[in-house]
Amino acid sequence: MSSSVASLLSSIADVGQDTMRGGYSRPVYSIAELDLRSWFIAEAEKRALEVEIDYNGIIWAWWDLPSGDRTGALVTGSHLDSVPGGGAFDGPLGIASALVAIDFLRDQGRQPEQALAIAVFPEEEGSRYGIACLGSRLFTGAIPKSRALSLTDESGTSFAEQSSAVGIDPSRMGPDFERLSSIGAFIELHVEQGRGLIDLEQPVAIGSSILGHGRWRLRFDGQGNHAGTTLMTGRRDPLIAASALISSIPSIALDHPGARATVGRVEPIPGGTNVIASQVDAWLDVRHPDDAVTSLVVSRITERAQEYALEQGCTVSVREESLSPTVGFDIDLRRRLEAELPQAPVLETGAGHDAGILAAYVPSAMLFVRNPTGISHSPEEHVEDSDAEAGATKLADVLMADIR
Ligand code: GLV
Ligand code: MN
Ligand code: MN
Repeated sequence: MSSSVASLLSSIADVGQDTMRGGYSRPVYSIAELDLRSWFIAEAEKRALEVEIDYNGIIWAWWDLPSGDRTGALVTGSHLDSVPGGGAFDGPLGIASALVAIDFLRDQGRQPEQALAIAVFPEEEGSRYGIACLGSRLFTGAIPKSRALSLTDESGTSFAEQSSAVGIDPSRMGPDFERLSSIGAFIELHVEQGRGLIDLEQPVAIGSSILGHGRWRLRFDGQGNHAGTTLMTGRRDPLIAASALISSIPSIALDHPGARATVGRVEPIPGGTNVIASQVDAWLDVRHPDDAVTSLVVSRITERAQEYALEQGCTVSVREESLSPTVGFDIDLRRRLEAELPQAPVLETGAGHDAGILAAYVPSAMLFVRNPTGISHSPEEHVEDSDAEAGATKLADVLMADIR
């Protein structure tokens, strides 16, 4: 069988549309993401791939050798969950391209020299449980199982409860060193999330590194009170402290060239028009190529948060939720990809990926496909059909190359 990347993506275009923002909201283990997982399993089965869901909820679709030996397997894959109101390509492009790459190879009568698998990782975005790449972190042991299981979503449902509700036994989760050590290389194809390829007249790039990044929760506590009866002079309003801090973040980040600092999510408690909030949570995302600078930016923001909290008669506490150091992809693997794709430029990325987590355990690499808008985590993210096909072809070439 043979499909195009565009036709595969159009077959899921209705799943998880975000009617408020546009784009897609496909949180892990929501109805939308479960629909996508079922879609992937059906597509894999149409191709006679052997599908299994491991105890961390990762879906594996195997193109086995006649011998059944999976030693040194070549794995490609990505994710199907999205950020709120995300684009159509972040995650699904890598999955659809992997399916099409297998079609290309089969159409050409080529059989890889080692087992080949497509992996679908759950909760790459961390948009439901707060920690990005949760599936690959569990798989590799990069997060303690007890911590992962106790994470809760906005409705208070724990990751353990939700996993269990979708048929994944939380008691069995955790590192899978046997499987990990059987992987020869992992290659993730992903939409480019910046503008690197736009002026280079090339559809596909090879990834060199992922910027170090982390997430911190800042909790401001004040005095909840009445909006009409509490004079402006008698307030302890944590939303004022939080908003002053947020306004100061660009100038702090700009002091450190290359730093990116963002608050994209704020939750006032209880959140009423006529209620002075009693508490505000603000989530901070900081990234920089030098991990020491990331940590300096976070401490400067923390100090500033304390000053603003004090000014408002409030308190603030800061909790690190995740921290991933800068990752340089395996240099030998990258050189072999460069030899296979001599036209492809080499680009770094500021976005996190499961390949960045796997890289500490398995030689890993990434391919990026041109995004003409340069915009991502937004409905404006885009990939031209011809570039998507070029990406899948190059992925197929790479999967056939001797890259182990
Ligand atoms: C995921 O896309 C991230 O970079 O946060
Ligand atoms: Mn992604
Ligand atoms: Mn993303």
